[in-house]
Amino acid sequence: MINDRYPVMQHIADNTHVDKAKYQALYQASVDDPDAFWGEQGKRIDWMTPYSKVKNVSFDPHNLHIRWYEDGTLNASANCLDRHLAERGDTVALIWESDDGDTVSQVTYRELHAKVCRFANVLKAQGIQKGDVVTIYMPMVVEAVVSMLACARIGAIHSVVFAGFSPDSIAGRIIDGKSKLVIVADEGLRGGRAIPLKGNVDEALANSDVTTVEKVIVFKRTGGDIDWVEGRDLWWHDLEAEAGSDCPAAEMNAEDPLFILYTSGSTGKPKGVLHTTGGYMVYASLTHEVVFDYKPGEVYWCTADIGWITGHSYLVYGPLANGATCLLHEGVPNWPGPSRLAEIVDRHQVAILYTAPTLIRALMAQGEEHFAKLDGKSLRILGTVGEPINPEAWRWYHQVIGKGRCPVVDTWWQTETGGIMIAPLPGAVDAKPGSATLPFFGVQPQLVDATGAPVAGEGNLVITDSWPGQMRTVYGDHERFIQTYFSTFPGNYFTGDGARQDEDGYFWITGRVDDVINVSGHRMGTAEIESALVAHHDVAEAAVVGYPHDIKGQGIYAYVTLNAGVEATEELRLALRQWVRKEIGALASPDLIQWAPSLPKTRSGKIMRRFLRKIAANECEALGDTTTLADPSVIDTLIQTRLNK
Ligand code: PRX
Repeated sequence: MINDRYPVMQHIADNTHVDKAKYQALYQASVDDPDAFWGEQGKRIDWMTPYSKVKNVSFDPHNLHIRWYEDGTLNASANCLDRHLAERGDTVALIWESDDGDTVSQVTYRELHAKVCRFANVLKAQGIQKGDVVTIYMPMVVEAVVSMLACARIGAIHSVVFAGFSPDSIAGRIIDGKSKLVIVADEGLRGGRAIPLKGNVDEALANSDVTTVEKVIVFKRTGGDIDWVEGRDLWWHDLEAEAGSDCPAAEMNAEDPLFILYTSGSTGKPKGVLHTTGGYMVYASLTHEVVFDYKPGEVYWCTADIGWITGHSYLVYGPLANGATCLLHEGVPNWPGPSRLAEIVDRHQVAILYTAPTLIRALMAQGEEHFAKLDGKSLRILGTVGEPINPEAWRWYHQVIGKGRCPVVDTWWQTETGGIMIAPLPGAVDAKPGSATLPFFGVQPQLVDATGAPVAGEGNLVITDSWPGQMRTVYGDHERFIQTYFSTFPGNYFTGDGARQDEDGYFWITGRVDDVINVSGHRMGTAEIESALVAHHDVAEAAVVGYPHDIKGQGIYAYVTLNAGVEATEELRLALRQWVRKEIGALASPDLIQWAPSLPKTRSGKIMRRFLRKIAANECEALGDTTTLADPSVIDTLIQTRLNK
């Protein structure tokens, strides 16, 4: 079954944006002459001042610069809203379905434009100006999208924090971004549970290191009990009622920041990935149209939360720039039961569904019978993102959800890349389950060995030249940007992923080659979880690795050494899981915690993680050479007491 091929379907190829011949010709043109190619593609969005320069890039770490369309000016919110008003003003931009499914509302482009203008005026009235950072900690409601676009409208930089992150994580991001204002809801609803979003923000702001926030705007979602700080906290609806509906879009340079989004790396605190305006908008809108083969009028559903890059590029900026009708679901697609996804698809006649392998595996585990009632005739294209999809899950998605009629596009990309980088265009590229297949226009992937020399077969995945959606810097730390992405393999952007390339040139992503793990499609730095664990007063040392997990892709396995005299109890294990939840968020809480009297280290004190990874994966036979360890017997103890047997 390996290299099992699913040819392009005729009914898709017959009416597609990009067919086989066009893909080859356009891809070639995009790498032969990027200036000409992207100069032409840039016209797909509206510019206030047209650009005369297209690409100005050097990946040389000593002279690193990445600029696209640098003398053009535009506004991202105008591209998502104003440009549609004349011809598509009454088209539905957002269909919102509540967590419990009882409420469905629709917002047209004209209505969304009015809401955004009003709220942009609210932000202005609160003193927010071009270049200020605004933190958004919102559930999946229309107002979350309004908040983002209102920031973009006045040139403020939004920093969306996923609503599952803890108060400490919010505080860290506010401090790093020097954010002046926070937008939050009283509570969020997910899977029937109320999440105390305002309470979390209160706790974050109680941190004495948070000094920049002047105002908190609170959207009332549930009406639940919240604390109120007079003079700081303001109700969304009060402010909105006073605001005017006319707000011209600010003229932004193509390279002005649009947003910051924090993501985990192998070391240190999460990095503020900075995306700018022009190149990002061109790339997000082009990839959305071509990779999902989007046609006007189709209902498009991306299940990602707005707190992640997928939510930014493929729930907000890409589809709205294309005038798409987007479904925004407040809750989780397998609650209250597995058939929820099918019900939503049929109820709203979804044509394009974009989700994560972890959800597909969770649905698979529930059994096919839940999908017996799925009509699914509206579905045309299925997408996945976030982690490698195992071929079994791919086929299940294709057969059970797509009824064998819908191409599956496995899209590989990252927070840093801004948009999809490797994916099978549905009308152009034959699919192979488990492979993200071939690069998008302008993307030049290459596999290299540890020395940076190009290799065939398997290696580290680098991208050899720029594309417009690329991140421009780590907010406030340009040196870290250069170090992280451009110094390992000078002259190239290093993705942190490993990959294999087969005889057809198809890429198969094998996973991270650094200390980053991918849990349910969410990226976690093992170093971050370790520092949360060692911050607990009972913990002396901790090492965290990923291990294969049937549903999540990877689970979090922590080896913990306790302080002398502390008893290793089941209560302490629970307390540590709770502790990480509080420090970072539920998504970082270890699945398994093994008590480790000591950790395997080299004589110089470096923790040998590859042994820990193998033990966590229950692959103890092939550990390799342990003689470099200061005390090889440590390994035997860990093997005997391992948890994932
Ligand atoms: O390891 C790759 C994995 O997710 C990482 C990026 O995570 P993040 O920045 O959170 O963005 C996720 C959504 C774009 C990558 O370095 N990854 C993402 N998509 C895929 C994938 N791995 C394999 N196949 C994919 N389709």
